[in-house]
Amino acid sequence: MLKIEGLKKSYAGNDILKGISFHVNKGDVISIIGPSGSGKTTLLRTITTLEEAEGGHISFAGVDKDFQKLNGKDIHTIRRNVGFVFQNYNLFNNKTALQNITEGLIVARKMKKSEAEKIALQALERVGLTDRRNHYPSQLSGGQQQRVGIARAIALNPQVIFFDEPTSALDPELVGEVLKVMQDLANSGTTMVVVTHQMNFARDVSNRVIFMADGFIIEQGSPKKIFENPSEERTKKFLTDILANV
Ligand SMILES: Nc1ncnc2c1ncn2[C@@H]1O[C@H](COP(=O)(O)OP(=O)(O)O)[C@@H](O)[C@H]1O
Ligand SMILES: [Mg+2]
Repeated sequence: MLKIEGLKKSYAGNDILKGISFHVNKGDVISIIGPSGSGKTTLLRTITTLEEAEGGHISFAGVDKDFQKLNGKDIHTIRRNVGFVFQNYNLFNNKTALQNITEGLIVARKMKKSEAEKIALQALERVGLTDRRNHYPSQLSGGQQQRVGIARAIALNPQVIFFDEPTSALDPELVGEVLKVMQDLANSGTTMVVVTHQMNFARDVSNRVIFMADGFIIEQGSPKKIFENPSEERTKKFLTDILANV
């Protein structure tokens, strides 16, 4: 349902993505792992058109074009069909949990307020926050704020949701509640691409793991393959180092 070929991106002459190709099938839960600075965030942001790519091709939601040839309508189509969950939640601080979710439905989807609220409440229910609907972000824990961020993404009913290290800004004791919500989404068939340092999530919840380093996909495969029998030395070293630190 989503196919990326030869994606390239540089910042100020530094090549960050050096030709990335991968695909996402409906229902996939893909974990992207790799060292800090390897281009994981840049990858998610260029695919979702939050950043401009210098090369490569995208097939998604009826768009089948080189990144550099995307016009305004294509970009609108791509953005409309993806959800994004950010590391730092990116909630509006002056809006309640409910309003953070209805905003996109009313503004981008042109929904009536009553209809938007109905959908937002369903989304809040899925993340277990119905009773916090009238709270402002400052009145919520980090874990609750991120669950609102996830509810906002699912309310828009995208074809695929991209998560950029959704638990890395959280205190350790709050990580579990967010991972639980993500596991529930995965179990209900939501298509997800998750950049994560949570190796348990990568191993136990995803059906494919992509290891990235230095702007390349070094290898990808089932969690069993990547965690138990990686082909590449760099994958082995990364996993040994990261698993030694948990
Ligand atoms: N807006 C930007 N301008 C310049 N350089 C950037 C920008 N965003 C990211 N980079 C650089 O791109 C590289 C990859 O960053 P990033 O995609 O954030 O990696 P990761 O998410 O894997 O840690 C880093 O060297 C980073 O400094
Ligand atoms: Mg990042």
